[in-house]
Amino acid sequence: MDKKKIWLSSPTMHGDEQRFVQEAFDTNWVAPLGPNVDAFEKEVAAYTGSVAACALDSGTAAIHLAVKLAGIQEKDVVLCQDLTFSASCNPVMYEKATPVFVDSEEDTWNMSPEALEEALLRHPEAKAVIVVHLYGTPAKMDAISSICASRGIVLIEDAAEAMGSTYQGKSCGTLGDYGILSFNGNKIITTSGGGMLLTHDEEQAKKVRYLATQAREPRPYYHHTTVGYNYRMSNITAGIGRGQLLHLQEHLEKKQAIYRMYEEALKGLPGVRMNPMNPKGVANNWLSGIYLDDDAKATPMQILEALQAENIESRPIWKPMHLQPVFEEYEFVKDPKQGGRDISAEIFARGLCLPSDIKNTEEDNERILRILKEMLS
Ligand SMILES: Cc1ncc(COP(=O)(O)O)c(C=O)c1O
Repeated sequence: MDKKKIWLSSPTMHGDEQRFVQEAFDTNWVAPLGPNVDAFEKEVAAYTGSVAACALDSGTAAIHLAVKLAGIQEKDVVLCQDLTFSASCNPVMYEKATPVFVDSEEDTWNMSPEALEEALLRHPEAKAVIVVHLYGTPAKMDAISSICASRGIVLIEDAAEAMGSTYQGKSCGTLGDYGILSFNGNKIITTSGGGMLLTHDEEQAKKVRYLATQAREPRPYYHHTTVGYNYRMSNITAGIGRGQLLHLQEHLEKKQAIYRMYEEALKGLPGVRMNPMNPKGVANNWLSGIYLDDDAKATPMQILEALQAENIESRPIWKPMHLQPVFEEYEFVKDPKQGGRDISAEIFARGLCLPSDIKNTEEDNERILRILKEMLS
């Protein structure tokens, strides 16, 4: 018989979600608008401390509308974090703009402020920066924000993986001009699929909701002056989100405990490091990861395969954008002080995301740790 499957990060539902979904059915608010959508927006805005939050049908849609609000047009240069999921930069392509990929740093695995400075020396005309808080670890937002502010560049924060993470006491997603969250199935809270755009300005939020509902003008008949999108969140999925939000704190504590468990169990093993934390912030530890140096006893792929053989899911680090065939014609900028090192590629080659499912039992954790210790001791 197959051993019980252990997932990397799967949805954790509580029953409260069904209450809000049932209410939507009972009141026939089965549409991409309604009381759950309005309430979920208010609740996320209050939780994150943003002025307004706009509920959309994916995090990718939220990035797309942030790119639109930033005024990005054809051929504009957008400086994008290189080490991330492709959804962070696909919206730049939707607008026919030009992504320039900026290397990550070892300290946080996020955009290197030094590489960003270098990218701006080469591209002083850049219009926007898209920074990511990878696996929930906050980027160096003080440095990155001041670089953007001093040059009048729009800062978009992809906090898809970082709901609940904070930097200098503020929620990730509220530190730039626009922030986005994802509620995809594997995220710290989920709506099955969905996202949120966070802004500091109620007028901008109105524009997001307008663009997300086919840019429909307030007239009795259908009248359009702009090309719109069908990006609004459904009142059903917003109900799932409201139920999940009631349990975000519990999810956070469990994710953080998983990180501490790995940190403790792997302490002292040769060449093994945990994915970095940022001392100026608190990570949600959406996924816990390891980085294996030359003197580690196994490679990430060997560990992935050993876990897989036991029906346990792990996952390579995101493959950097500059190594993706789809982006091969675009420029990649490194920190000149790193002596030619390609930090994103190093993290991709040496890192591994470990099972971080908050439903894992002690027995599950023992199964995972036994394999890791066997391989790495
Ligand atoms: C870093 C990052 N950006 C963007 C996204 C896109 O979010 P969504 O799947 O909700 O479109 C994701 C996750 O899926 C992500 O991990």
